[in-house]
Amino acid sequence: MVYVTRRETFAASHRLYNPAFSNEKNEEVFDKCSNPNGHGHNYELEVTVAGGVDPDTGYVIDLKELKKIIRDAVISQVDHKHLNHDVPFLKGVIPTAENIAIQIWNVLRPRISGGTLHSVRLRETENNVVEYRGE
Ligand code: NI
Repeated sequence: MVYVTRRETFAASHRLYNPAFSNEKNEEVFDKCSNPNGHGHNYELEVTVAGGVDPDTGYVIDLKELKKIIRDAVISQVDHKHLNHDVPFLKGVIPTAENIAIQIWNVLRPRISGGTLHSVRLRETENNVVEYRGE
């Protein structure tokens, strides 16, 4: 089994806010991340595909193909967008890094063939990264 990773980046804004909470509760839970007009991040996305090496190509998955899938299905939807308002696959979820990673997994999983999707890692800040493996 070989693990192949493609990295992509995007810039987006969001606000962490639960409409079921009061304004006070939102401030208490999300602090400055609940700023009413939002704030931005430069996100780094790492998508890892696992599989055996195809003896004819030497590839687990063609990275040009993986790049195209990620850009078409994810990056084009989220880059320079407001994640609370602009992105159909994030509708109805609080756009934390955790939830964004899960939704990106759900978008990519059925599109990947050759290998199987192993993990989605999303770095939101220099120090904060989340990883989802579909479990
Ligand atoms: Ni944030």
